[in-house]
Amino acid sequence: MALKVLMVCLGNICRSPLAEGILQSKVDPTLVFVDSAGTGGYHVGERPDERSIEVAAKYGLSIGHQKCRKLTSSDLDTFDLIYVMDQSNYRNTIALAKNQRQRAKVRLLLNEISVETNEVPDPYYGGQDGFEQVYRLIDAACETIAKRLQNKA
Ligand code: 4NP
Repeated sequence: MALKVLMVCLGNICRSPLAEGILQSKVDPTLVFVDSAGTGGYHVGERPDERSIEVAAKYGLSIGHQKCRKLTSSDLDTFDLIYVMDQSNYRNTIALAKNQRQRAKVRLLLNEISVETNEVPDPYYGGQDGFEQVYRLIDAACETIAKRLQNKA
């Protein structure tokens, strides 16, 4: 059975759709299933932000088919690893956990790599440059995660 990885941000339209697309592109889809969700429900049912779609396309990834959904407590049962983009996502995700086993699944994405920040900045109110920076941070972390998952597979 495939390992299940969930990427979480606030809106599930900017950062976590990129994280879903990037990690999925680096792993064997028969071994690793990747999904994403948001702790907030403002954009449920929408496709990713155009700026995320654009930066993904620049790097050869298509994410326009994704549909925004809200994180639920059952996601903490279903998924094996849950990567969050920032501290606020961490608090909101941990708040849904029922036990220590579920809490242990939740990790800050950037703790996977050595960078000066452990948060992927929320690019929603900025311009395309912010999305480029977000893409690079997420890509670096997903490269490390994918290598580790492939070694275990
Ligand atoms: P995301 O960005 O958490 O990376 O998807 C945001 C998207 C929408 C909002 C906030 C952040 N919003 O407030 O609608």
